[in-house]
Amino acid sequence: DKGNYRHFMAKEIAEQPEVVGHTLAHHLDMANMRARVPDGIDFATLDRLAISACGTAFYAGLVARYWFEKFARMPVDIDIASEFRYREPPLKEGGLAIMISQSGETADTLATLRHCREQGMQIASVCNVPTSTIARDSDAVLPTLAGPEIGVASTKAFTCQLATLAALAVAAGRARKVLTAEDEFRLVNALIEVPRLMTETLKLEPQIERLAKTFAHSRDALYLGRGTSYPIALEGALKLKEISYIHAEGYAAGELKHGPIALIDEDVPVVVVAPFDQLFEKTVSNMQEVQARGGKVVLITDAEGAIVAGETFETLIVPTSYAFVSPLIYAIPMQLLAYHTAVFMGTDVDQPRNLAKSVTVE
Ligand code: M6R
Repeated sequence: DKGNYRHFMAKEIAEQPEVVGHTLAHHLDMANMRARVPDGIDFATLDRLAISACGTAFYAGLVARYWFEKFARMPVDIDIASEFRYREPPLKEGGLAIMISQSGETADTLATLRHCREQGMQIASVCNVPTSTIARDSDAVLPTLAGPEIGVASTKAFTCQLATLAALAVAAGRARKVLTAEDEFRLVNALIEVPRLMTETLKLEPQIERLAKTFAHSRDALYLGRGTSYPIALEGALKLKEISYIHAEGYAAGELKHGPIALIDEDVPVVVVAPFDQLFEKTVSNMQEVQARGGKVVLITDAEGAIVAGETFETLIVPTSYAFVSPLIYAIPMQLLAYHTAVFMGTDVDQPRNLAKSVTVE
């Protein structure tokens, strides 16, 4: 049921503060300000992690790599599920592999799960459908409590995957004695604030709706980000191409000069995902390289970032958050921009051409 919304995607975007809140409540022990560790997983004895997934779920895994490496000092080996096996990565018996899948039925992710299992690994899955094949075939299931996601373009499942993985990375950091109790308190506190910040971020919708009219006339678009904003840029580009059919690419901001800058002219909008954090200055200098070539910059940042960055074609100001949780917040303007561009162009938002909600062939 779409309720009062025109599309399932719109409803699912709007539900995020609530479902991310439920997901966090499940994975955090809020009374004691700790992240929970799932039964059977002992992070203290693991020396690395393998993560695999497809599409948007893969981008959640890419964000999680930064978190596990920083907070738990665990090297993360990550690849898209359709390539993971072909690399023949050396996997350790007893090691932990994490599969991420909304549907729990994605053929490539399931094949990777089985490959990891044959190598003697333990399997944990971050999954939105507890009765799915991937969930049933896993040793531990970390549920995302997004509720049914109907729109083919994943939105709320993605932010719930991020919430789950963020809590797990904090739990791993504690188990491995990398994080102190104060560190954990601070990180859990940052997570608890996310639903409120998401509600604030959703208020950007009217501004994004106006911006989408400009986007609808573009043939190509670029998305740039650094650090955890890099996978968010990839996700933004994927959302736009899936539902509006505009060609979009996400790049690490630092890669701009190594090729994609050749594409910049007045007709190419460039979305720059740049929270005011330690990486901000460098990303803004990449943004200025775009502006110097006449590119139309849409900057997504917070209040401080907007002041420092100066004039742009358009600046979307999201609420200030801890750098740790910014991927969960910045995902929302990505979704809204793709959504309103597609609505303006009149495409079938919930059922885009050539795509299926779950991809059950390899
Ligand atoms: O059900 P899964 O999470 O395993 O699906 C993975 C991808 O097929 C999925 O995220 C796809 O990329 C979406 N259409 C993205 O919006």
